[in-house]
Formats: sequence, structure tokens, C-alpha cells
Amino acid sequence: MSRVRFRAPGRVNLIGDHTDYTGGLVMPMTIDRWTVFDGEDRGDAVELTSTSEPNSARITLPVADPASVQPPWARYVAAVAAEIGGAARALRATITTDIPIGAGLSSSAALEIAAALSLGFDGDAPALAELCRRAEHRASGVPCGIMDQLCIAAGRSGHALLIDCTSLETEAVPLAADLDVVVRFVAHRTLVGSGYADRVAQCARAEQVIGPLRDADIASVDQLQDDVLQRRARHVITENQRVRDFADALRRDDRVAAGRLMTESHASLRDDFETSTAAMDAAVESLAAVPGVHGARMTGGGFGGCIVAIAEPGAVTDPTAWIVHAVDGAITDSFNEVRR
Ligand code: GLA
Repeated sequence: MSRVRFRAPGRVNLIGDHTDYTGGLVMPMTIDRWTVFDGEDRGDAVELTSTSEPNSARITLPVADPASVQPPWARYVAAVAAEIGGAARALRATITTDIPIGAGLSSSAALEIAAALSLGFDGDAPALAELCRRAEHRASGVPCGIMDQLCIAAGRSGHALLIDCTSLETEAVPLAADLDVVVRFVAHRTLVGSGYADRVAQCARAEQVIGPLRDADIASVDQLQDDVLQRRARHVITENQRVRDFADALRRDDRVAAGRLMTESHASLRDDFETSTAAMDAAVESLAAVPGVHGARMTGGGFGGCIVAIAEPGAVTDPTAWIVHAVDGAITDSFNEVRR
């Protein structure tokens, strides 16, 4: 019997939303909030208690159908166990988290990554992220991209992570120590049953006409007959360019340019991709208007969740907003060093 003690952070996306599932570019960062598994490998099942959930879970191994496991929160862990297969180890653990659940900060991906390490996954960050992405599809049915899982696995303290979602290459880009990254919660949401899957399908339909959006030229958007598909494609193509420009702006610590790109990204998600909400638009507008804030945008899948801004230190005093710091992802986090 040995100790199981692993954690995985949440993430906030600085720029590059709804590009990952078309193999595009994204630039998220890990945040200093974690989901922690603490227990022992013992017994013949996965027995879990969560301090955020009223009902505990007993998942028998091997897992055949993770989507039918009760209570529903345990499906993410069951799906990870199913993906690991015969090597998944039995354990008894308590899960704690300070990542707000259902707030667009990747609480489910953090649960998957911490579960995979606890259940005995051994491999590098891209392999861990791919396994957990498959688990997310099986557990929730949401056809998510790779961004959340790869950021949480491969993030780096003090850096944002530029991810190429085709090659899965990552580049850690330093965040200036005196730049505040501010997160504000707007509304709870789940991507299950939201317009997320429709957006994925619309991008796939656009790609049937103009080829991979990752490589498409903005002029090719005119070849699409359907106005909705035109707007979806225009968002993805312009968002990929904004991610490149944002990474350049961060490298030279040009906060004004970086902030402007965030605000442009929000407008594109609002008008062309239609994943924002009136409440998020209003929150972005009021945060962007605060002196010292360089730009703000919705972050993640949308339809609720959080907004993110970059600002001069101390500029945002709103008590409903908080400053986040990039931490090491689960693969390099020294907390996870001891794998017994
Ligand atoms: C969710 C998904 C990600 C990504 C974002 C939007 O967070 O899990 O894969 O598609 O939405 O950028």
C-alpha cells in the first residue's frame, strides 16, 4: 500500500478560443488553484470522496461504460480509468479543489489530469493530455480540443503557454512579473448541451469547403455560401493570427498591443463565433474601461464562465475579480515528484 498524492492546476486562456479543435493556436496559462487527490492505493476499486460533492463514488475496475457511472462527477475519473485500461490501479482517495467548478477554468480537465496521475499514468505531457481529452469526450460527450489538458499538463510557472494544437508543440512565453492577469467570474455554465458541439460541427463543415482552417487564407472565407459558416471561419482564421501577434507582444512586453488583441478577440467571439453572452459582454466592457487595464475578453468555451484581463499592478480593485499566477503544470510540479 502506498500514498497517492497528486494535483493538477486550473487554467485560464489568455487568447485563442475555439481554435484548438481545428488544430489552431492557443495561449493559455495555468492558474494557482488546484485539484488534489490524496489517499492510498488499496482495495480493488476506485473509491472517492470529494469535499465539493455530497455523494462519494465507487468505481469498479475495469470500467466498461464511464458515461453511466454515478454520481456524474465521478465519470471523469471513470473515463480516465477506462482510457488507462488494465494498468489503472485501485485506490481510495479524497479529492479537494479550489478551482471554481463549472466556471470555465477547466475544473474537469484538472480532475482528469490529477486522476490520471493518481491511477498510475506514466508518460509525457502530450500523451497525458491526449488520454485525458479522450476521457473528457467519453465522460461528458463534449467534443473538446486539447488546450485545457495540455496546458494543465505542460504549463510553466511565470509563463503563458503557446500551444500549436496540430503538432502539440508548446513554447513557454514569460509573463512580466509586474503584469496582473485578472480573472472575474460571470456565470456558472456547462458545455454539455451548450452550443459548443455545434461550433465544432460548423468548423468541420467550413473545412470541407475551404480546407483546414489552420492553413486557410482569410480571402477563402468568401467561398463559403452560408453566412454563419463564413463568420465561424473568419473567427478561427483571425484568432490564430491574433495568438501569433499576442505572443510577439508578450515577448517584447508590449502590454498595450497585447491588451488590444484580447479586446479584438472578444469582439470576434461575440460577433462572429457567438459564444459570449450579454452578461459577459457587459463584464468585459466594464473591466476594459478601468484605468490601467490593457484589454479584457471572455475566456474558454463561453456561454458563461469567466472573463480575463491584463492590467497594471493593483489597477483592478473590484472584489469580485482576482489575480492569478502561472504555476508549473502537473508533469513538472514538484508536488507530484514522488510517484510511488
Ligand atoms: C473549452 C474546451 C477547449 C477549447 C475551449 C475554447 O475549454 O475544453 O478544448 O475548445 O473551450 O477555446
